[in-house]
Amino acid sequence: MIDPKTTRVLITGTAGFIGFHLARLLLAEGFTVHGYDGMTDYYDVRLKQRRHAMLRQNQRFTATEAMLEDMDTLRAATDAFAPDVIVHLAAQAGVRYSLENPRAYIDANVVGTFNVMECARAHAVRHLLMASTSSVYGANTDMPFTEVEKADTPLTIYAATKKATEAMGHSYAHLYDLPTTMFRFFTVYGPWGRPDMALFKFTKGIIERTPIDIYNNGEMWRDFTYVDDLVRGIRLLFDAVPVRPDSVEDIAPGDSLSPVAPFRVVNIGNSDKVRLLDFVEAIEDELGQKAIRNYMPMQTGDVPATWADAQLLQSLTGYRPQTPFREGVRRFVEWYRDYYQI
Ligand SMILES: NC(=O)c1ccc[n+]([C@@H]2O[C@H](COP(=O)([O-])OP(=O)(O)OC[C@H]3O[C@@H](n4cnc5c(N)ncnc54)[C@H](O)[C@@H]3O)[C@@H](O)[C@H]2O)c1
Repeated sequence: MIDPKTTRVLITGTAGFIGFHLARLLLAEGFTVHGYDGMTDYYDVRLKQRRHAMLRQNQRFTATEAMLEDMDTLRAATDAFAPDVIVHLAAQAGVRYSLENPRAYIDANVVGTFNVMECARAHAVRHLLMASTSSVYGANTDMPFTEVEKADTPLTIYAATKKATEAMGHSYAHLYDLPTTMFRFFTVYGPWGRPDMALFKFTKGIIERTPIDIYNNGEMWRDFTYVDDLVRGIRLLFDAVPVRPDSVEDIAPGDSLSPVAPFRVVNIGNSDKVRLLDFVEAIEDELGQKAIRNYMPMQTGDVPATWADAQLLQSLTGYRPQTPFREGVRRFVEWYRDYYQI
């Protein structure tokens, strides 16, 4: 078991939505945390600065604000901190933006992740945990999505770069015996969330009485995962360190553990698919105001539904996400009103 008091965790992406929440949870448990974030301007940098400023209030938190592609700085930060565990969350995120600026995804996600893996190898960390996405399930239609099924049909460069990081992670786990867990997150939402994501945009649009775009005429389903549940899942997976099996027979049914490497992929999702229009209604109810709905066709590269099988997470950690979406929406709206003083 990992002891928080003696464990140093390097988290990339701490000024981001999920990294911020994870750092807060770990600091509360007594871990020492170093954050690494390039403060990119993909969305409002002030939100990132606020998140980092909050984390810096804790004396066990330090940070380096630099890009992953800057290997010299990343290496120096990692060497100075000497992490026991690395959680790699920094990335160029967002499905839709990857159609506009695919190169940003190659730079941050492929080159950046390779640099993080090099640092993890140099420090022989006890566990490397890295973010992938439910988008890697791409055109799969068998639901809920399980980790043991093939995910070879990414529909966007975002999904393709994340799939690439899974493959890269597997190779380093195999070559250097680097215990590696890849998470596939499903539509994460909650306070301090991302302005480019649906909940944020819908809340803003409803408050400002501007139309909100609803794709595929609302025929969309998402496995919305509340951020506190998600970071709890990440934390519990620290202790589920993958071990290279002696033979294929040692791999439990439903476990994505590689037969040749200390490597596995784990879904973190609520395991409940919610209709987008029900989600919009929950926001309307919370705000006491109706949305002006702008129904749109399906966007290129988008998928109509995502739905996680969360059985593997549960069997590894005994935990499964549980916040109902109405409760999560309530907490988001409360935060939004407070943050923007509305
Ligand atoms: N939020 C979701 O619903 C979701 C779903 C699936 C997967 N993910 C993955 O989870 C991770 C965290 O996502 P998030 O929602 O917190 O996103 P986010 O954009 O809020 O956070 C990512 C952080 O990484 C930093 N960053 C981006 N490119 C960088 C680079 N090249 N060098 C250094 N820092 C860089 C950004 O400044 C940002 O603070 C990402 O890997 C994302 O792909 C998120």
